[in-house]
Amino acid sequence: MSVRDFNHHSDPAVRVDPFTAFDRFRDERVFWTPDLDGFWVLTRHTDIRAVLRDTDAFSSQHTSIPPAGWPRPLMPVELDPPDHGRYRALLARCLNGKAGNVIAKAVEAESARLVERLAPLGECDLVVDFARPLQNALFAALFDVPEEETKACAQWADDLLQDVDPDRRSRATKDFMAYVGRAITEYSTGERQGDGSGLLDLLSSAEVDGEPLTREQALDMAFLMGMASLDTLTNSVSFTFRYLAENPEHQHRLAAEPAIAGRAAEELLRLHSVVSVARTAIKDIEVAGVRIRAGDRVLCSLSLAGRDPHNYPEPAEADFDRSNSATHVAFGFGAHRCLGARVATQGLAAALRDWHSSIVDYRVRPDADLVMDGGAVCSLENLPMVWTV
Ligand code: HEM
Repeated sequence: MSVRDFNHHSDPAVRVDPFTAFDRFRDERVFWTPDLDGFWVLTRHTDIRAVLRDTDAFSSQHTSIPPAGWPRPLMPVELDPPDHGRYRALLARCLNGKAGNVIAKAVEAESARLVERLAPLGECDLVVDFARPLQNALFAALFDVPEEETKACAQWADDLLQDVDPDRRSRATKDFMAYVGRAITEYSTGERQGDGSGLLDLLSSAEVDGEPLTREQALDMAFLMGMASLDTLTNSVSFTFRYLAENPEHQHRLAAEPAIAGRAAEELLRLHSVVSVARTAIKDIEVAGVRIRAGDRVLCSLSLAGRDPHNYPEPAEADFDRSNSATHVAFGFGAHRCLGARVATQGLAAALRDWHSSIVDYRVRPDADLVMDGGAVCSLENLPMVWTV
């Protein structure tokens, strides 16, 4: 058994580049780290999928290491079967079918609007000026926030995302929960009207197994949906554009062939799978040739899975013609696979299409000092870029 000193939150290498920080462990199939009270780290696509699929042997009770710190399990992501499926099905109603199309269209419209505004400027901070507004549009459409309230929501979203000031984050969480609580009450008393497809409207009257949701459950689910949709899309878009800014041949291909945007989005999600998820063994089991004991925690870095050379030759390079890009696990795998996968992929594809229809030969500003981090979601805080207009 290999033992390595590795903490995905504080290892200095993750601040330089979280993806190459994980890549350093490529030669180990599995290792144990004593950090954060000890956990296993898996590196192979096949082993990670096996763990995520096996809900008999692995619990989702804590999906991050260390645990998220929310006083109750985050619903539905930290529930196990059979409860999990019931709450997942409820949330799926505001992300699948017609409701999902409305959200995807809102993100597409915002992408086109942002590109039109940014293209003549010749420079922007991609994270602040493009990735976050895009994610805020998704958030507003999912929660069905009226126009006049979107600004406050965008501010909370921005404050929640920046973790340098814990006070600001905790204030934003409180304000956001108070807003959500008020809106749910207003929907249930008829003060607010909706067509039932927006998340808060849905949560105000939802039942599971014939029982209405408790207020706590409704708030917890709204919180999870907020969290799940925030850093993930922003950082996926941001890391994607950092890579493209450094690889102009891919920019030119996207500009010349807009029809490949959908498949390019899948390949770029594979290349930068930003999330790491954790599971806890509920029985003794052998995985990747090691004996994992009941109670042991396992970290599944989806970045390692996406860049596993056993599945993807030249894994650190984008290849828009790769035949198996869509087998990536950026959205997880198995029972808990991301409910937002479709709208997020469509959003990224729209961003790639719109951006390259107007802006090419963009590059990272030479004096830029990029700030990155690891943790449950790999993050890129800033991406100053320039191009010729
Ligand atoms: C590129 C953007 C995104 C990425 C990379 C991503 C990634 C993930 C991953 C890896 C999981 C699985 C967690 C686990 O197995 O423990 C997950 C679950 C989930 N995601 Fe996403 N996500 C993204 C966007 C979104 C969006 C936009 C939404 C909502 C609109 C969303 C809602 C959810 C929900 C509700 C779950 C829990 C599903 C369940 O437990 O059944 N995600 N996501």
